[in-house]
Amino acid sequence: MTIKVSSWNEFDPLKHVIVGRADHTCIPPSEPATEAKVPDDSDMRGMWGPRPLETVEKANAQLDALAALLESRGVLVDRPTPIQWNQAVHTPDFSAGSMFGCMPPRDVLLTVGNEILSAPMSFRCRYFEYLAYQPLMQHYFDADPDFRWEQAPRPRLSEDSYKPGYFDEITTDERLKRTANLDFVTTEYEPLFDAADIMRLGKDLFCQHGLTTNRRGMQWLQRHFPDHRVHSVNFPGDPYPIHIDATFVPLRPGLIINNPNRPLPDDQRQIFNSNDWEIVDAATPVHNSPPPLCYSSVWLSMNCLVLDHKTVIVEASEKNQMEQMDKLGMEVLPLPFRDAYPFGGGLHCATADVRREGSCEDYFPKQVGNTRL
Ligand code: GLY
Repeated sequence: MTIKVSSWNEFDPLKHVIVGRADHTCIPPSEPATEAKVPDDSDMRGMWGPRPLETVEKANAQLDALAALLESRGVLVDRPTPIQWNQAVHTPDFSAGSMFGCMPPRDVLLTVGNEILSAPMSFRCRYFEYLAYQPLMQHYFDADPDFRWEQAPRPRLSEDSYKPGYFDEITTDERLKRTANLDFVTTEYEPLFDAADIMRLGKDLFCQHGLTTNRRGMQWLQRHFPDHRVHSVNFPGDPYPIHIDATFVPLRPGLIINNPNRPLPDDQRQIFNSNDWEIVDAATPVHNSPPPLCYSSVWLSMNCLVLDHKTVIVEASEKNQMEQMDKLGMEVLPLPFRDAYPFGGGLHCATADVRREGSCEDYFPKQVGNTRL
């Protein structure tokens, strides 16, 4: 099949995708940014090192099943080349006891049109994660003369990038206040963002301002993509605002599901309302808790992979979410995926777009409200 890198949004027909791998994944030692991620009552507190082999095998079986399902629907699937993540890394500015993994390609790879960009992530343990994708990037570069292989400025991630003591004895109420006040663990010393904080809707890129994306990161994106309109959104109901895809998930042009515990504030809804987009509350998750040793919340229930405007893959046990998708007119393809969750997220996280059909549409001709940078 011809290689052509091109993807402008989260819902046009998917033709080529990267699916992550769980091999060698580690729970990294605590560092300024990961303190942010691990809830106080999590079974991961104080744990670090390679994940148990049987959990890796189970996760890989589900990732392989996702790849097989996609291939059965005519989607070309590529896989990263894991490296031995259980190695300490050093730069002139920091050391980290281990790396992380390459199960969630969505976190690091941002595809916008014919470009795939490695994000400047704020976790030190993820500094070299892009290396797992270099063989694929090289392949696309050789095969597609229009492919733009890009990297955001490599951050230094020195002490200057984090607020000291930010998480000392912090309560959930305090976390929620800080989310509402846009007060996060990272400073504005340098541009930082995770690709999974960015929702791509044609000419408009909606970025979640949170624990993994700062304002300078969004400013860098706006200058890097001058023909796009970069927006900042935030979700005050989320005590751990990391990645937009368990919070605000588009299903097709004009329709978004929003985590009801993390509603988009009224003043940020104007652009959607004025352009006739419907925002509906996502269905309640079936589970009361995430699987063991999982970074994410139960709201991975809504972290689905849209194959086209009428077809979506949803985690097989999430009956409520599947029922809602069905009512919203989607054909649902159920797939067991909870064994993969602890390795870095759900079905959307586990993938990164290489090609979707379609072009760069202007879904928001009325630029109203206060989300623009
Ligand atoms: N940050 C994704 C979640 O809700 O767990």
